[in-house]
Amino acid sequence: MYKVFIITASDSSAAGTRADESGPAIREILAAYGRFSAEGIIVLPDDRAALAREMARLADEAGADLILTTGGTGFSKRDVTPEATLDVTERRVPGIPEAMRKLSLEITPRAMLSRAEAGIRGNTLIVNLPGSPKAVRETLDYILPSVEHGLDILQGRDGDCARG
Ligand code: MTE
Repeated sequence: MYKVFIITASDSSAAGTRADESGPAIREILAAYGRFSAEGIIVLPDDRAALAREMARLADEAGADLILTTGGTGFSKRDVTPEATLDVTERRVPGIPEAMRKLSLEITPRAMLSRAEAGIRGNTLIVNLPGSPKAVRETLDYILPSVEHGLDILQGRDGDCARG
């Protein structure tokens, strides 16, 4: 099982004025998939340094294989999740957010406003998901099989892409 941590980036959820619905939606989808164990949901304000620090801690000390973030990928001045992700990753993985945007554009043109990133830090993959539970449900199932295969390769469990 791959160890997954979920980070919800939201000023209002961190302040306790809005319930976090996206983090639990991610946990539910992961549970149905079978290869991923959701270790926890961490709710943080939209603060670049705090988000970057937590991502680095989860990767380096908590043994996260996968970190899924939700929120903070849009155009609000406080939306800094992609920047925090790039601060702590060594190699970008543009194909995952590109795939989510391609899929999402079939649902809403607003998907072009998602600035989501993904990247690798050591053995850990970090992927930004959009902020709403609706958008999480629309995108996460689609990327999980390829994310699993990517982790298998990253961690040396599978060197073969031939099976598709
Ligand atoms: N992707 C999907 N699949 N479904 C959606 O409803 N909403 C978009 C986009 N991606 C959406 C989506 C909107 S309206 C915005 S502003 C961006 O994600 C960024 O959202 P965030 O700031 O909540 O992360």
